[in-house]
Amino acid sequence: IRSKPGKGYTAFNGVEFEGTFHVNTVTDDDYVGFVFGYQDSSSFYVVMWKQTGQTYWQDTPFRATAQPGLQLKAVKSHTGPGERLRNAMWHTGDTPGEVTLMWKDPRNVGWKDKTSYRWHLSHRPHVGYIRVQLYESTTLVADSGVVMDTSMRGGRLGVFCFSQENIIWSNLGYRCNDTIPDDYYYLYKKQMNLRWGD
Ligand SMILES: *[C@@H]1O[C@H](CO)[C@@H](O)[C@H](O)[C@H]1NC(C)=O
Repeated sequence: IRSKPGKGYTAFNGVEFEGTFHVNTVTDDDYVGFVFGYQDSSSFYVVMWKQTGQTYWQDTPFRATAQPGLQLKAVKSHTGPGERLRNAMWHTGDTPGEVTLMWKDPRNVGWKDKTSYRWHLSHRPHVGYIRVQLYESTTLVADSGVVMDTSMRGGRLGVFCFSQENIIWSNLGYRCNDTIPDDYYYLYKKQMNLRWGD
């Protein structure tokens, strides 16, 4: 989905992004997910989910280890697409100059074969608010809570795959929405109280 044509697009628009993915095979256990705030192939947010833990088969330029459990990463790559960014994407952790792991589901559970998952993302770039929720049928299976980050001030939306075959994405949609969610104000107030001690 292109929220607007053109490259290196910067917008401060809030968005709700939803979609469903389903891995329609019992082979392989790699990454599936989606991207948002996509500015270019070196600058974007990615929500990615692996089925099982695994060390990447290419251990240069460094050894990368993936954990299962939904992850939210900010990609700000100095090197751009290439081996270093590849391993940094695989790795569940921070890689300086490439990727910051902003949140990971502490349950550390991978996706199931032949199962549909629906995501709901709220992004309000003007205040740096991000929240991702993931449902299996009507059950909430992962929730990032409020994550604050302003590295990407909006951008394109899309789907993400790293080495996984037979992914079906469906019912993708987005809505512009600039309303600040209540949980942002709640967090903001809590932080102010901590700072000022009221
Ligand atoms: C817009 O965002 C607000 C705050 O998260 C939410 O309460 C409202 O339902 C959203 N509106 C639409 C049309 O998605």
